[in-house]
Amino acid sequence: MEKAKSLRILAIESSCDESAAAVLDASQGLLAHEIFTQAELHRVFGGVVPELASRDHVRRLLPLVRAVLERSATAPQQLGGVAYTAGPGLVGALLTGAALARSLAYAWGLPAVGVHHLEGHLLAALLEPESPPFPHVALLVSGGHTLLVEAVAIGRYRVLGQTRDDAAGEAFDKIAKLLGLPYPGGPQLARLADEGSRGESSPGAFVFPRPMLDRPGLEFSFSGLKTAVLHAVRGRVLTDALKRDVARAVQEAIVDTLASKALRALDATGLEALVVCGGVGANRMLRERLALEVRSRGGRVYYPRLEFCTDNAAMIAVAGLARLKSGEHDDLGIRVRAQWPLESLQPILNP
Ligand code: KG4
Ligand code: ZN
Repeated sequence: MEKAKSLRILAIESSCDESAAAVLDASQGLLAHEIFTQAELHRVFGGVVPELASRDHVRRLLPLVRAVLERSATAPQQLGGVAYTAGPGLVGALLTGAALARSLAYAWGLPAVGVHHLEGHLLAALLEPESPPFPHVALLVSGGHTLLVEAVAIGRYRVLGQTRDDAAGEAFDKIAKLLGLPYPGGPQLARLADEGSRGESSPGAFVFPRPMLDRPGLEFSFSGLKTAVLHAVRGRVLTDALKRDVARAVQEAIVDTLASKALRALDATGLEALVVCGGVGANRMLRERLALEVRSRGGRVYYPRLEFCTDNAAMIAVAGLARLKSGEHDDLGIRVRAQWPLESLQPILNP
């Protein structure tokens, strides 16, 4: 008797300034993935220029698709579906990936499924050898979102709290820009802060507010932090030493806030497993602090590896595979969304 073929899919991510493709096999796992970051392209503008992002995705995506198919020795006939990021994100950028993915699926006679970018981030830790149990609490911290989520099962998410204004990554990026650090600022600010913590700065030179930590609940607010930094450095020469001091204090304020609220969410739900995901999930201090504190309470933290914290197509493949397996697929009318509430997602019937 012929063995049943395992489902293998192609996935495409293009929601912001990373173009990415991946091939995932239901039984063999991740077979190939590629990311092209457009950071260089946007650097002179100090932030992502949506029109340039779309134009570059158009240039990059097909070669990335070819590369992951070749690397995984996958012919289109071996694929069982195509997944793509359908939102939230920059509409023009999303459309490039969606149009390409949908067209390839049409040409190859395959189903296609539009994936929620944040569901991708939430499921990225499933790519690791030790994947998190369900239910768990997830701290999803990216450039556009800061959310605490109860992940009940694949496809079933309850938002416990979110930011009222800026996302944590956005705060990192805006403050980095204010300090004159090159784009993308978040990782640069973190690097400078780590230098500061290694003794190259004066501890306690600055202490910035921990927004909303003094109030009950699981909401965040990071917009005031930028104003606090602005006041603190006004009229001062931005020397390297000053930048290190500020970066260190900013990182401490953001990490303290995120970690304290994540622990509060574990208390509120009675759950022991915490997943930390999204671009800011790559932050060394946040990872170390949470690992330590959650372990000391008898719980456990799960992280995607660093390259799967920031935007990538492997995580889109995980979410897409779950949805395709449950029979979900899109019609030929391509639909992408700038905004897309996580809780409005269709539950997955048989994940
Ligand atoms: O998930 P992601 O790649 O894109 C979005 O979906 O937004 O997250 C990007 C964000 C940026 O704001 C970036 O500054 C931040 O993640 N980020 C970091 C670090 N690496 C990336 N923030 C703090 N420390 C890091 N090491
Ligand atoms: Zn993202």
